[in-house]
Parts: sequence; C-alpha cells; structure tokens
Amino acid sequence: MSSKAPVVHTVGEMRAFVRARRGAGERIGLVPTMGALHAGHISLVEEARRHAERVIATIFVNPTQFAPGEDFSRYPRTLAADREKLATVAADLVFAPAVEEMYPAGFCTTVTLEGPARADLEDRFRPTHFAGVATVVAKLLNQAQADVAVFGEKDYQQLLVIRTMARDLDIPTDILAGPTLRDPDGLAMSSRNVYLSAEDRARAPVLHRALAGAARRIAGGETIGHVISEARKTIAGAGFEIDYVEARHAETLAPVSRREDGPIRILAAARLGATRLIDNLAVPGK
Ligand code: PAF
Repeated sequence: MSSKAPVVHTVGEMRAFVRARRGAGERIGLVPTMGALHAGHISLVEEARRHAERVIATIFVNPTQFAPGEDFSRYPRTLAADREKLATVAADLVFAPAVEEMYPAGFCTTVTLEGPARADLEDRFRPTHFAGVATVVAKLLNQAQADVAVFGEKDYQQLLVIRTMARDLDIPTDILAGPTLRDPDGLAMSSRNVYLSAEDRARAPVLHRALAGAARRIAGGETIGHVISEARKTIAGAGFEIDYVEARHAETLAPVSRREDGPIRILAAARLGATRLIDNLAVPGK
C-alpha cells in the first residue's frame, strides 16, 4: 500500500469515487477536517470505518469560518503529512479542494442559523463562525452524499449546530460524534496546540482539570453557580483570559442552574497568550 492516502481535488472526482463504491454496495463515511491532523482526527476516521466500508477524509481550511484577524493565513497546512497519517488507518480517499473549487466566482449562498448557533458561547466571540462552518459542511455533505459523517465532541457547539442544520435541511447523512482525545496530562488534542509556547503548554491542562473538577462536584450535588464560579477562578489563576465557562443543557445549550435541569455539559473557551483553547465535558450520571 502507498504510504500516502490517495487524494483528489475536485468534487467531480470525489463523486465518481462515491458512485463506484456505492455501485459495489458499499457504505460511505465522511470525516470533514481542516487538516493538521492529530490522533483525535484519526480516531474519527476509525469511528467512520465502524459504520462504512469506505472512508473519505476532507481537508479544507475553510476561509468563511475565520473572521478577519483570526488565524486563517497561519493555520497549519500539512497535506503530505496528513495523507501519511490517513494511510496508517487505510482512509480510502482524501478530498482536498482548492478555495476556488468550494467557492467559485459568483458563490453567494450562506446558511443562516438559530438554535444552538445562538447559545451565547462561541457565537458571542466568533459571531460569523458558525455560518461559515454550516455552509461548508452543508456543501461537503451534499458533495459526498455519504451515509455517515463524523465530527469531534471537542467542538461541542459546532457538533450541535451541524446536527441541527443537517436535520433542518433534510440532509440524509447520519451525523455521528467522536469523543475528544487528550494528551496524557488532559489537554484536549487540537491542531492549534502547536501555537502554544512551552510555558503556556505547561499551564494548558489546568483548563481540563478545572472542568473535570467542576463536573465531579456538580454530579456530587454542589450548587452549579458556585462550582462554575470556582472553576473560573482556578482557570484565571493559571493565567488564562477567560471567554466563557458555562454549564449548559447538553442537547439545547440552554443555561441550567440545577442538576435536575437535564443532562449537563460544561463548556469553556479561554486564551493563553495568542492561543485560544476550547474544551467541554459531560457532567456524569444523568
Ligand atoms: O472542525 C473543523 O475542523 C471544521 O470546523 C470543519 C467541521 C471541518 C468545517 O470546516
């Protein structure tokens, strides 16, 4: 087998692959990514493989989900290394389109979102982000016509936005979630972790530790408001600039104040230097 997963760059080539495999009675799994792949992405490919005979990974740094001043131009682009990693799990195809393939001249359609996209979490700090994500994911799902598509729980609000969008637009692909993979010290794997200085990397696991402590204490019956305010102090005390630390209903992202308000997810975003980290955890037991 080649040491790099095969790559195509046009929608037509990807569709020809899907047509041929479907014709042979096989199911198709899709794993949309922006590349700079790490073990978390690879686990999503493995999850897709549990539901489909053929797996396509897409690699596209989507300009429309970055606001001016965000890290679009410096976002790591590592296609050759990504294809090697994908070959280790026998991904069947990589779809790596150019910007002009996804957004040809005259492109003028954007998905408009409410619901989980307006939960006052990521959207408060990145107001145009989810429209860009939903638009590109709607395109990828329509282009590939896959049976299943897998997204990481690490971007929890994104996962709910994509699920809602696919349901509302009658996109017939099952949207599946893959769990967050973590470094041994608890830091959630992210392509953006490469931006962390050595000093910030040493402090970064505090975010996960604070969320894990908060989840345990809420599960143990302590008051949500108090626990979240203590978690904020711990995170700020380690040198983070906090965007949000919130306990929300795990399915609707509505604010919760009591354990009985439903399955609860704690979500956080905080900055260490120029690097913005996000993480989330389920409160166990309900
Ligand atoms: O999570 C990501 O990597 C991106 O937001 C996605 C879903 C591939 C859309 O560009």
